Order: sequence, then structure tokens, then C-alpha cells
Amino acid sequence: MGVKVEKLKVNFKTLEEFKKFKEYGIQELSMLDDLGAKMVEDDSDSPFYGIYFGDKLVARMSLYQIDAKFDRYFYPPQDYLELWKLEVLPDYQDKGYGKQLVEFAKTFGLPIKTNPRVKSSGFWEKMEFANVDYDMERDRGENPLVWYPEGVEAQQH
Ligand code: COA
Repeated sequence: MGVKVEKLKVNFKTLEEFKKFKEYGIQELSMLDDLGAKMVEDDSDSPFYGIYFGDKLVARMSLYQIDAKFDRYFYPPQDYLELWKLEVLPDYQDKGYGKQLVEFAKTFGLPIKTNPRVKSSGFWEKMEFANVDYDMERDRGENPLVWYPEGVEAQQH
């Protein structure tokens, strides 16, 4: 395919690119504030990974490693990845970029949890993400989907 997944840096250029994504919100604004107030260095690491087509950011996701002591989803309990803000710009959808980002997340070898948008369930099924048994106390209105690496299963409550 010729494009690769890159870890994105926090700088004004990246934050300008983020404005093209629908899910632009408080997370991006706070990154912009921190950068403006020099609370973070220009070009410091962000939790975002993305795909460039030429010099244009066309797909991105956020990934964050959660410590095993907070794991309520997986057995045995372990560090896992939370994936959010997966989004491909409209003109670049259905070309495999979403899949490429999710496969990249899987290469860390950790279980993954995401809380997808309602309309993307067909995509997540293809990515082999599964529903969890809803647990009101834990999930509180979320509808998480998870991916289990080999040897990992659902935590029983
Ligand atoms: N429903 C069912 N299957 C879907 C799908 C969907 N909404 N989107 C993609 N797929 C399938 C593709 O057909 C492809 O199947 P294949 O491997 O058999 O060819 C596979 O999932 C991988 O698709 P890919 O090209 O990587 O998808 P993408 O790059 O467009 O990324 C999203 C998928 C959902 C992340 C992306 O389209 C997006 O950001 N959409 C934003 C809005 C949204 O959520 N749309 C949902 C539909 S309204």
C-alpha cells in the first residue's frame, strides 16, 4: 500500500491537521492550550498515531496503555490498550487505512478496548473485535468492544 503508520508529534502543524477530523474536541483543544502555554514541548509525543498521504494526515487514532491494576476486562488481568478517535477522512475511506491502524495497534500484543461509534459495527466485526458481557457498574452506558490476543479471555464478574 506504500503508506505507513506513524506516531504523531504534538506541534501546531499536527493540531491544524486534526481540525479536518469530525471528532475534534476537548482533547485537541487542551493539546493546543498546552502547546501555546509552553506546558509541553513542540514535537513531544502524543497518544495519536496516523497515516499520511503525501503530507496530508488522512487517518488517525489515539492509543493509550492502561495499567493492569485497572483492568476490569481481561483474564488474566494485564496492561491493555484503549483505542479511541479512530477516523479516516471521507475521501480516503474504504482504502484499508482504518484496518491498517487497527492492525498496527494489534502488533503491541496487548488486549485492546474501544468504544465505537454506532454506525461502525460492521468494520469492528471485520477487525475481530467482540462485544463484552455488559456489566452495569463497569460499563455504565458504554458499549465496549474488545480484541483478545491469543491466550487472553474475558474477565468474569
Ligand atoms: N461497515 C461495514 N464494513 C466496513 C465499514 C462499515 N462502516 N467500514 C469499512 N468496512 C469494511 C471494509 O469494507 C473492509 O472490508 P474488506 O477487508 O473485506 O475489504 C474492512 O472493513 C476494512 O475497511 P477499511 O478500508 O480499512 O475502512 P476505513 O479505512 O474506511 O476505516 C472507519 C473504517 C469506520 C474507521 C472509517 O470509515 C471512518 O472513520 N468513518 C467515519 C465515520 C463512520 O464511523 N462511519 C461509519 C459508517 S457511516
